Amino acid sequence: MKIDILLGLQWGDEGKGKIVDALSPDYDVVARFQGGPNAGHSLEFNNIKHVLHLIPSGIFHPGKLNIIGNGVVLDPAVFKQEIEELGIPLGELTGRLVISSKANLILPTHRTLDAAYEKKKGSLKIGSTLKGIGPAYTDKTSRNGLRAGDILLDDFRAMYNGLTASHVVLLKDLGFDFDISEYEKLWFEGIELLKKFRIENTEYLINELFSAGRKVLAEGAQGTMLDLDFGSYPFVTSSNTISAGACTGLGVSPRTIGEIFGIFKAYCTRVGSGPFPTELREETGEFLRKKGAEFGATTGRPRRCGWLDLPALRYAIMINGTTRLFMMKADILSGFSTIKVCTSYRVGGETVSQVPFDNNAVIEPVYTELPGWAEDITGIRKYNDLPVNLKNYVEFIERKTGVPITIVSVGPDRNSTIFR
Ligand code: GDP
Ligand code: IMO
Ligand code: MG
Repeated sequence: MKIDILLGLQWGDEGKGKIVDALSPDYDVVARFQGGPNAGHSLEFNNIKHVLHLIPSGIFHPGKLNIIGNGVVLDPAVFKQEIEELGIPLGELTGRLVISSKANLILPTHRTLDAAYEKKKGSLKIGSTLKGIGPAYTDKTSRNGLRAGDILLDDFRAMYNGLTASHVVLLKDLGFDFDISEYEKLWFEGIELLKKFRIENTEYLINELFSAGRKVLAEGAQGTMLDLDFGSYPFVTSSNTISAGACTGLGVSPRTIGEIFGIFKAYCTRVGSGPFPTELREETGEFLRKKGAEFGATTGRPRRCGWLDLPALRYAIMINGTTRLFMMKADILSGFSTIKVCTSYRVGGETVSQVPFDNNAVIEPVYTELPGWAEDITGIRKYNDLPVNLKNYVEFIERKTGVPITIVSVGPDRNSTIFR
């Protein structure tokens, strides 16, 4: 028995929430290992769409244990709102969800700092979700952060006041006006709600469950191209979104890892700033955005859209050691007479297959054109029933990446999923 990982291979929003929910019946435990409320994981069943930010996407399955791992940064105010919107009685939830005592907390002033730093960057802004992610991880690595386990200590309020005061000094320095009083109230209500849950050293729990033969699925947030080390730095998030992040974010050995499921859209999207070689700035991009409802699940911002980028996908597959690919939103490509796939880049007059280091490099995608399909595929549930040109597209990507595509997703509902 091994721990499987599911993570995004592109710039986030690949459909992780949907697939984790769809796969949850096969697992005993679903554990988030990094990121925080910057994530927006959508899943749909019984015609109702749910968007999760901090809570693992296995939460709607009774009998499954969900863990918020130590690698996650947790905002108690967001946590409270999310718990209240789930529509699951609190008594049930406290039995289904456990929080790592070592998960760092996002303070109200972390959010303010996020906004202040973005404002200061001006035109070079990252396009952060402004949820306080960067400042919270900064305090974690500079060893100033507060952790979920701290809320149970007698001097927690003093610790909070101390860290907040240091942020206020920074904010004054930045000349940034703010008022956190309202958010702070919600935040402390969130702290009281958190105390009703099990807060413990989940690295013991997860290793014990694993040793007892329980099946664990580690759920990533964001995507490989937003990874702190391997994404288009500085236009990235502040955590390791890659498979290695599951080990540090949950406290499990690399030797326990089994399958590494890499999830990608049949095309590409990105929200926020940074390079996006295959971006379509004209009506094709607008068409994908409209048809694919490509608006951020956390911020509502329009997502930038473009064709599939194979050099970036191959890079992500390599970094993660991806064993299987899941292709999402194939239904959105129905109706194109021709589909383009970027197979290499032209940079400075040369053809390259590596993702360039320089964010300012002028990258011209080299496209292969494949015939599209006209059929609406949303009702199809068997791979063999898919249009032949879609199967050709799937098999083309398999050949170019060397990794099998074992799920093709044809709609947002948990049942709109084709297993091969
Ligand atoms: P995540 O962050 O990776 O969980 O992805 P998001 O939830 O942010 O964005 C994916 C969006 O696509 C959501 O609105 C999903 O409901 C939707 N979605 C997921 N899979 C499919 C699919 O196969 N087809 C269509 N049409 N929508 C999908
Ligand atoms: P899920 O888990 C898409 C992007 C932001 C910004 C950059 C840094 O839903 O796939 P941050 O708030 O982390 O400081 O933002 O990363 N970003 C995401 N884009 N999906 C996400 O999460 C994202 N989380 C952060 O838009 O460009
Ligand atoms: Mg999302």
